[in-house]
Amino acid sequence: MDKSVINLALAGFGTVGTGLAKIIKENQDWIERRIGKKLVITRILVRDLSKVRPFIPGPEAVFTDRFQDLLDDQDIDVVVELMGGMDTAFSLIKQSLERRKHVVTANKALLAEMGGELFALAHDRKLGLCYEASVAGGIPIVQTLKDSLAGNRISSITGILNGTANFILSEMTSKGQDFSTALKAAQDLGFAEADPALDVEGVDAAHKLAILIRLAHGADYPFKLLPVNGISKVEAMDISLAAGFGYVLKLIAQVREKSGHLQAGVFPALLPMDHILAKVDGPFNSILLEGNAVGPIMLYGQGAGGLPTGSAVLADIMSLARNGAAVDNTGFRERVLPEADIIEPDLAVSRHYFRMTALDKPGVLSAVSGVMGEHNISIAQAVQKPGPQGRDVPIVFLTHRAQLKAVQSALKVIDDFDFTTAPTVHYRILK
Ligand SMILES: NC(=O)c1ccc[n+]([C@@H]2O[C@H](COP(=O)([O-])OP(=O)(O)OC[C@H]3O[C@@H](n4cnc5c(N)ncnc54)[C@H](OP(=O)(O)O)[C@@H]3O)[C@@H](O)[C@H]2O)c1
Repeated sequence: MDKSVINLALAGFGTVGTGLAKIIKENQDWIERRIGKKLVITRILVRDLSKVRPFIPGPEAVFTDRFQDLLDDQDIDVVVELMGGMDTAFSLIKQSLERRKHVVTANKALLAEMGGELFALAHDRKLGLCYEASVAGGIPIVQTLKDSLAGNRISSITGILNGTANFILSEMTSKGQDFSTALKAAQDLGFAEADPALDVEGVDAAHKLAILIRLAHGADYPFKLLPVNGISKVEAMDISLAAGFGYVLKLIAQVREKSGHLQAGVFPALLPMDHILAKVDGPFNSILLEGNAVGPIMLYGQGAGGLPTGSAVLADIMSLARNGAAVDNTGFRERVLPEADIIEPDLAVSRHYFRMTALDKPGVLSAVSGVMGEHNISIAQAVQKPGPQGRDVPIVFLTHRAQLKAVQSALKVIDDFDFTTAPTVHYRILK
C-alpha cells in the first residue's frame, strides 16, 4: 500500500474492536515509526447506533449500521471484521475482497467452517485475508507457522486453545468445585459468555485447531469430521482421583501427523503434572508444537481480551501496510488446499484412565480384567476406593498404551455388567 495514510473500516466495535482502536490511538507514533504510515479508523460498523460508546477513536471515525457504507467507501484500504457470526461476516468479507479491499479478521468460526472460498477469492484478487487473532488471541501462532517455521514439517501440535474451559478446569482442580460452580465464577469474572456452549463443548477450540491444521499441514480438515468433546460432563471426583495418580485434566486440541496422514481432535485428557502444558492455568492459552528441524516450541499467553486480541489484529494491519498483499494467506501457494488425509480418530493409541461405578461384591475386578484382556488392553493400576460393602464404589483403572477403539468397545461390555451401576467415565492420558 503505497500511501502515507492507511484508512481502516472496523466492522464491529465490541471487545476486540474497541481494544484495537485504543492500541492504535495510544501507540500511533510507535506504529508510524515502524511502518512509516499513519493508521486512521474512518468507518465503524455496529448493530446498534444508539448504544453509548465510552471510547471513540477520533473525529474521522463515522459510525454506521449499514455494511454497504464500508463497501462503497473507495478510500478504505482494509476492512477489519470484528463482529463475529457467520452469514453477515461471510458476506462482508466476500464483498470487501470483490471491491479490492484487504481484510483482517478474528473470526475463527467463519474461517474454520467456510474459509476455503474466501481464501481462494483473496488469492485470485491478490489481496490479504489475514487472521492472526483468530487462534489463541494475542499469541502470534499464525505468523509463527506461516513464516518463522515455514521450512519445518510439523509432526504434532498440542494446544490449550480455550481460556474459558481452561479457567473452569483450573478452578475445579484448585478449589474442588463442581462444573456449574466453576462456570458461574468464569461468567462473573467475564471469562465466559452468557451462552458458554461453544467454549465448554470444545467447538471454539476445534475452530482454532482447524485453522492450525491448515497452517501447519497445508490441508483442509473438514470441520464436521473433526471429533469434538467438551468439558461440561467433567466431574470434580475424577479431577481429584486423577490428581492422586499425578495427573491434571485439561481440554486439549491436538493434531498429529503420521506419514502424511492426520489424526486430530479436541478432547479432555489427563496430563502428568510435570507436563509443560499441565502448568497452563486460568484463562491462559498455550500451544506446544514439534517441528522436524526446530524441535519442540511452546507459545504461551492471553488467548482472549480486547488488548491481547487487538494486538494480533494490529500486527496483521501493520504487516499489510508494510508489505502489501501477502498473497499466500494460507501459507501455501495453492489456490485451494487439498483435503486432509484423515486417520480415523478412534485408532489413536494412548494410555487411558477409567472410573467405573460398581456394587462392592466379589468377582468385579476379575470380570473387568477379563474383558480388558479380551480387548488386548493391559491394566497398569487398579484402585478401589473404600465404601460400604454391598453399595456403589468407584474403581479407577489406568491402562498401558491401547487403541481408543478397543477401550471404547471394552467399556461398552463393562457398562452392561449387572454390577455396574453408572456409566463408566473415561479419559485419555497424554504423555
Ligand atoms: N473477545 C475476545 O477476546 C476474542 C478473542 C479472539 C477472537 N475473537 C473474535 O473476534 C470477533 C469479535 O469478538 P468480540 O468479543 O469483540 O465481539 P463483541 O464484543 O460481541 O462485539 C461485536 C461487535 O460487532 C457488532 N455487530 C455484531 N453483529 C453485527 C451485525 N450483524 N451488523 C453490524 N454490527 C454487528 C456489535 O455491534 P453493537 O456494538 O452495536 O452490539 C459489536 O460492536 C469474533 O469473531 C470473536 O470470535 C474475540
